Amino acid sequence: MTRSAAGTQFGARAAMERLNAEAAPLHIWLRTQANAPAQPPWFRQTSLEAGGTIATGRVGAAQLKPVAHRWRWRKIAPYLDRIAEIARTADISPIEFAERQQFLLTNPGLGGRLQVTSTMRCAVSIYNPADVAPVHIHTPNASRTILSENGGYTTIEGERCRAARGDLILTPSGTWHDHGNDGNAPVVWIDVLDSPLMEFLDCVWLDEDYPGETEGNARAQKVKAQDRHSQRLYGRGGLVPAFVEHRRGFAADASPMFHYRGAEVRAALAELRDGEGDPYEAVTLRFVNPLTGGAVFPTLDYRAMLLRRGEETRFKRETASTLYQVIEGRGATEIAGHTFDWEENDIFVVPGFSWRRHLNRGPGDAVLYAVCDRPLLDKIGQYRAQGRLSDDRVTELAP
Ligand SMILES: [Fe+2]
Repeated sequence: MTRSAAGTQFGARAAMERLNAEAAPLHIWLRTQANAPAQPPWFRQTSLEAGGTIATGRVGAAQLKPVAHRWRWRKIAPYLDRIAEIARTADISPIEFAERQQFLLTNPGLGGRLQVTSTMRCAVSIYNPADVAPVHIHTPNASRTILSENGGYTTIEGERCRAARGDLILTPSGTWHDHGNDGNAPVVWIDVLDSPLMEFLDCVWLDEDYPGETEGNARAQKVKAQDRHSQRLYGRGGLVPAFVEHRRGFAADASPMFHYRGAEVRAALAELRDGEGDPYEAVTLRFVNPLTGGAVFPTLDYRAMLLRRGEETRFKRETASTLYQVIEGRGATEIAGHTFDWEENDIFVVPGFSWRRHLNRGPGDAVLYAVCDRPLLDKIGQYRAQGRLSDDRVTELAP
């Protein structure tokens, strides 16, 4: 309580709130609550369950935090079949009114928003034979991880990428692309985009008015590049052609290699299997921009991790968030004190700041693909990481 000039006491908070009611039409807010960041000084909290807290009241009104979550493939996959069935039998195909046949993953901590972390959107798409997603261009960076043994195609800037399981196909910001299935069976892949970040920055746009030549039903761009263009130009480590324009599309800082083959990734992991690996990341390879060795997108970094039979990594936490896709094997990941077991095609998310470690619990090796927003955090000086040593002491891993 405070004392007014006249000597009578009154409640300051109540008085401020009365003023707030009066001043609201002016679009101002008289502060009646302290700041309460959703993330406390995490680097000092060492317990495995350490996490942030959403504030209440006016301060917390716009706060959201992604939580650790796993989407079990065997629970969600049947909905792909249901979508495909509707597409085959209903009056019009969902691709006609929704442009895609897919479901999006929603993080339970993000209030129903179509995103798995603050920066990433993730969807699982199915294409029936003869389906085509028309040629278009947009500002979000996007990728697909192919789950089907043969995964249809994506054409990007004139290069047709014919896909197979484990392939990573990139459509960087500002590249014209279309997708389709010219095979005999449905194809399925996982889409990952940085669109929540782009939306937050209010710089999302999409254009379908392709200025170039189209073919077939006039909705797909004409193929101009040689077959296996990405592999021919950039598919040998340490060598890049000196005679071509590397920039493709108008993205200034994205990989000119659009297609990474799952079979080659798997073979590269196998070659490194008997080495030491890393206590926190096992045997991990990065998908990189072959010109720079940097991340394939300015916002997202892609990796493939081989977790050898019986291998358990040490606990690590970082300010970046990571989305994992299980390509091969069985295991579990402990995240912020909870254990999430996983098997082939499961998808799970490790939010920033959460302690996590991976355990291979299957009869063979496991392979996880990971996408994280570290490149973005690096650029704004916010990337940090800590690990736990074998005696459980916390050590700084980065910077
Ligand atoms: Fe797209």
